[in-house]
Amino acid sequence: MKILVTGGLGYIGSHTVVELQNEGFEVVIIDNLSNSSIAVLDGIVGITGKRPIFEEFDLRDKTKVQDFFARHSDVGGVIHFAASKAVGESVEKPLLYYENNLGVLVYILQELEKKKGASFIFSSSCTVYGQADELPITENAPVKPAESPYGNTKQVGEEIIRDTCKVTPNLKAIALRYFNPIGAHPSVKIGELPLGVPQNLVPFITQTGIGLRERLSVFGDDYPTEDGTCIRDYIHVVDLAKAHVKALQRLLQNENSSNYEVFNLGTGKGSSVLEVIHSFERVSGKKLNYKIVDRREGDVIQAYADTKKANEVLGWKSKSTLDESLKSAWDWEQKVRMSHTKS
Ligand code: NAD
Ligand code: UD1
Repeated sequence: MKILVTGGLGYIGSHTVVELQNEGFEVVIIDNLSNSSIAVLDGIVGITGKRPIFEEFDLRDKTKVQDFFARHSDVGGVIHFAASKAVGESVEKPLLYYENNLGVLVYILQELEKKKGASFIFSSSCTVYGQADELPITENAPVKPAESPYGNTKQVGEEIIRDTCKVTPNLKAIALRYFNPIGAHPSVKIGELPLGVPQNLVPFITQTGIGLRERLSVFGDDYPTEDGTCIRDYIHVVDLAKAHVKALQRLLQNENSSNYEVFNLGTGKGSSVLEVIHSFERVSGKKLNYKIVDRREGDVIQAYADTKKANEVLGWKSKSTLDESLKSAWDWEQKVRMSHTKS
């Protein structure tokens, strides 16, 4: 079975391509390398021994999307990762985000609508819940008004898919709401490659640990949590990648209960910023230079997943501990910096 992975050279996409190939799927990747490197392809080959088909183009070009589906009429499933994901940038350039994250989604669904049967997996985010009233967060928790154009693209993206599925019985779709993906493949051949100064906690920690950043700013320690810092559900990217294979198999084997479903992907365990720092210190043997500063605007206090639906309905469970995830992130950081010093 041939599966299209858009954004397959990106962080989560590349780990998912590895798991798909390990399960015997034939993979074709579309990526415009706007937030990734062609070297990732070699990383994937290094792990799986198989080279996926790769087409480099921008999915915002509708004609190229149409042409792709005409040439690859045997594509039976699509996992759609390609999107822009920098929350701050989305506030500055909303139209870029609406075009890339929603325009492209529409182009792909228009092609899938024409097919006799197709399976579609969408990268959504726990950001759709905002600050949930009840924890852990179930899939039934209400979607809150988005804090940013990026967040809005995930909410509207889900609605576009839901509305399309209602009138397109031959289309089956699953939206996966990721909590906080971290870490890297244990082979250290692929991992996260943030451009510029990382906005997310874990890459900032590992870059501080390696000496690239002087100090981590911890955004607030006066929240109503045990140690005063915010709580998130950090999930190992390999566990997350495996969930995509499960979701795809569910659709391909017609095990879905409706043609549009939603699943949370998290560990179910919340960790505070200080707990993440301590985990990093344990696995790296380094003391991390950090300072408590003011709160970051727009941060939710606590978010962690209720994993019951993913565990019982999807048959998937995350396996890695926080320490294992941080260890893989640290191993990857050291590998990246070592290859930078050599070149
Ligand atoms: P990423 O930036 O590493 O990967 C996205 C890939 O898509 C990149 O390789 C990029 O070059 C490619 N791409 C972007 N626009 C494209 C276009 N128009 N045409 C062709 N290729 C294009 O991001 P990621 O962290 O792997 O995230 C993947 C998906 O998961 C995104 O939809 C993101 O919004 C979503 N998501 C990510 C997180 C996270 O914390 N990383 C959390 C929740 C949801
Ligand atoms: C991020 C995304 C959000 C996405 C979510 C889940 C941003 C701004 N938001 O938010 O859209 O849905 O992941 O994948 O990218 N922190 C620090 N210092 C730092 C960086 C972070 O203290 O330098 C703290 C934050 O205040 C937060 C925690 O670490 O409490 C995690 O932050 P981050 O990695 O940005 O994730 P989210 O806030 O969950």
